[in-house]
Amino acid sequence: KNNQETFHIGFSQCAMDEWRETMNKEMVMTAALYPDLELTILNARENTRRQQLQIRELINNKVDLLIISPNESGPITPIAEEAFEQGIPTIIIDRKINSGKYTAFIGANNYQIGRDVATYIANIHNGKGRILEIRGMDGSSPARERHNGFFDVLKDHPNLNVVASMEGKWLPDNAREVAEEVFSEEQVDIVFGHNDVMARSAREVANSMGIEDLFVVGIDALPNLGMKLVEEGVLQASFIYPTGGKKAIEIARAILIDEPFNKQNILGTSVVDSTNVTVLRLQLEQVIAFQDILVKQTSRIRQQEQQFNDQRSLLNIALIS
Ligand code: FRU
Repeated sequence: KNNQETFHIGFSQCAMDEWRETMNKEMVMTAALYPDLELTILNARENTRRQQLQIRELINNKVDLLIISPNESGPITPIAEEAFEQGIPTIIIDRKINSGKYTAFIGANNYQIGRDVATYIANIHNGKGRILEIRGMDGSSPARERHNGFFDVLKDHPNLNVVASMEGKWLPDNAREVAEEVFSEEQVDIVFGHNDVMARSAREVANSMGIEDLFVVGIDALPNLGMKLVEEGVLQASFIYPTGGKKAIEIARAILIDEPFNKQNILGTSVVDSTNVTVLRLQLEQVIAFQDILVKQTSRIRQQEQQFNDQRSLLNIALIS
């Protein structure tokens, strides 16, 4: 590839929610730093079949590199392998496929997060309590791994009992139904929702049923969502689940221009609760304010470039005639 050439990156995003929008935004902002990158995002909106078709579309459009966040591991594996085997560098982000046939993976360790949640709950509750677990979509790797990590630690805590573990499919409405069903049958002290929006649903149901003594833990901790919910006391804790959007574009570029990169890129995580949420939010608000400035500056620079190019072509016309 010569200097003038543009690399076309195709991203197959599996779902549409605030966490996904944050990932997309990180990718768009990072790609904007490199004039040689062009990014197309197709969103499957929770539909695995649609995602298969969208990945096919990106392959047919001959993207130079493919990024996939698989809705469900099993059904997305064959098409991801196919792209890789055709020689398209393929980055898997956040959710996994059931294969090693990809170029790089970026994401947090969901098994460890599940373990961290259980350890955190055990410490705060002195190893005692009745738990409702609301799982993500069972076909997706973070749901399986968060569940396994959680249960592996609970084995050491015989007085922490999971009275119900049900699938909420990552979605607040499904989680609401789960909570309504379980709360009307069982006494629950602790809810572990595999993400913050499902955890919030459990709190809302509890409130509407007059259940007060409830400890609710979620995952994601986005500054304007999960962290806010922790600050408001809707959730007692959440675990930061970084989207990896920025890292994905950086690795994509390294792959495309033949620079070194790691195949496995594991992102860190950390608990957010009443002890640290205020300072975290304050600091993040500053970062977000600066991001906004950067976005505005970037678009101004673009405008100026455009004006400059317009003037140059006017000048050329003047010189020719
Ligand atoms: C967003 C989401 C997050 C969760 C992640 C797992 O679509 O459900 O809330 O942490 O996906 O892949």
